[in-house]
Amino acid sequence: MSGRIRNRQWAAKVVEAEEAAGLIGPGENVGMSGFTGAGYPKEVPGALAKRVAVAHEHGEPMKVGLWTGASTAPELDGALAEVEGIDLRLPYQSDPVSRAKINEGRLDYTDIHLSHVAQRVWQGIYGDLDVAVVEVSGITEDGRLIPSSSVGNNKTWLEQADRVIVEVNSWQSEHLEGMHDVYYGTALPPHRRPIPITHPADRIGVPHLDCPLEKVIAVVETESPDRNGAFTPPDAISEQIAGHVLDFLELEVAAGRLPRELLPIQSGVGNVANAVLAGLENGPFHGLTAYTEVIQDGMLQLIESGRMEMASATAFSLSPTAVERFNRDAAAFRDKIVLRPQEISNHPEVVRRLGCLAMNGIVEADLYGNINSTHLMGSRIQNGIGGSGDFARNAYVSIFVTPSQAKGGDVSTIVPMVSHVDHTEHDVDVIVTEQGLADLRGLSPKQRAERVIEHCAHPDFRPALRDYFERSQRSAFGLHTPHLLDESLSWHQRYVRTGSMR
Ligand code: COA
Repeated sequence: MSGRIRNRQWAAKVVEAEEAAGLIGPGENVGMSGFTGAGYPKEVPGALAKRVAVAHEHGEPMKVGLWTGASTAPELDGALAEVEGIDLRLPYQSDPVSRAKINEGRLDYTDIHLSHVAQRVWQGIYGDLDVAVVEVSGITEDGRLIPSSSVGNNKTWLEQADRVIVEVNSWQSEHLEGMHDVYYGTALPPHRRPIPITHPADRIGVPHLDCPLEKVIAVVETESPDRNGAFTPPDAISEQIAGHVLDFLELEVAAGRLPRELLPIQSGVGNVANAVLAGLENGPFHGLTAYTEVIQDGMLQLIESGRMEMASATAFSLSPTAVERFNRDAAAFRDKIVLRPQEISNHPEVVRRLGCLAMNGIVEADLYGNINSTHLMGSRIQNGIGGSGDFARNAYVSIFVTPSQAKGGDVSTIVPMVSHVDHTEHDVDVIVTEQGLADLRGLSPKQRAERVIEHCAHPDFRPALRDYFERSQRSAFGLHTPHLLDESLSWHQRYVRTGSMR
């Protein structure tokens, strides 16, 4: 035993992962921990996948409904998708095997705002939650659960599930204890109360998760690392995008619209987001804060350098080298980082009150500022909306970033009309590519189109966009948001047909 289970009654429930997985039945809904590659159960999902494979070999179909915090890792999503053991998957995913199965029509996926998951489950929209499988970093003497590197929906899973399996992972730093803030004050309407967060550092809950021992059917001990991708240093395009964002923020400060220490930052995942955070390291801003979903390498670096005073999130999303740094110095980060349930980290009420600066990556944007964050050519899912809607809709300034081209230049990410809409023009303040930045606030649709074409589109695609926009103004049905409907999605059709929008 690792010594992480400090309560005898809980220790008496320790079994092997295979035995625990054997307690999950076909057709059951399973709520698993995990948010990005952090804090997901490492052993039970793999054991469950093996069970599913054996059942399928014997001609006995076995699938479970799989609910998580967000994306997880190959040992969870990948393993269960590979054996076709998932019935309905929710919410965000980014696993290549799951993605392929979803796009082949072999796996059902419902992509919802991350802040909505808990309340939908309380409402019973997805049916009953049968089993929770939750990773923790330890169990206290009095039987409370010390969360691990993500909180996600764990509070809801533990409350709602009929039966609970806990994985205690001794690889997670012991110093995580005290870093979490689990708020037990949420309720369904009409019993909702204001969430009393007025600064990202505010703690309004308790550091542990509660779970009645009677519900616990198994405890599994593990010592396995989280699984996030390696950090790739920002490329030239990411750095150009980051440069435009930083110039914009400086101008906003100069115009008196932002304080010198900015407002709490929300930053999506990926290279561009990391490049913006890296740019902040060398920029003029001090005393920064974050109210965001994940703490990635760039944010950890800002905290280490003292540029950022504190960050609130629901999970870490660190490369292996950053995890090593964090685990070495975890105690030092304890009063600089707060990890909360995702219904709070992404809560629209709090995001609006704090005035977050939201920065998220996208698949494509159209002339009028509508954004597609999720679907390639309108029908193939990439990942999901994640928390981008929670933040963008309620942000003080919502910024969306993308290279102006994809697929080696065959695709323009600025198109006449997006092939799928995640964020409407009403929720989009600023679009940035390596070509420049379009501040769309206060503009009419036609003014927005001019700015998006001239500031964001790649020069190779600019003439065709100008041509579309000019012709649409001559023959559209209406001239408020002019479109040529038989042509507006022709760029996507051309890509599907020929492999290029050109
Ligand atoms: N048309 C076709 N393919 C496109 C495309 C477009 N307009 N834009 C991107 N792609 C392809 C890329 O070529 C790449 O394909 P590949 O894997 O075959 O190389 C793939 O989509 C991913 O693109 P990439 O540029 O590597 O993605 P990224 O890491 O910068 O992420 C998103 C971009 C949009 C996928 C990502 O930001 C996302 O999932 N966003 C939605 C959720 C979100 O915002 N979360 C944060 C909230 S806290």
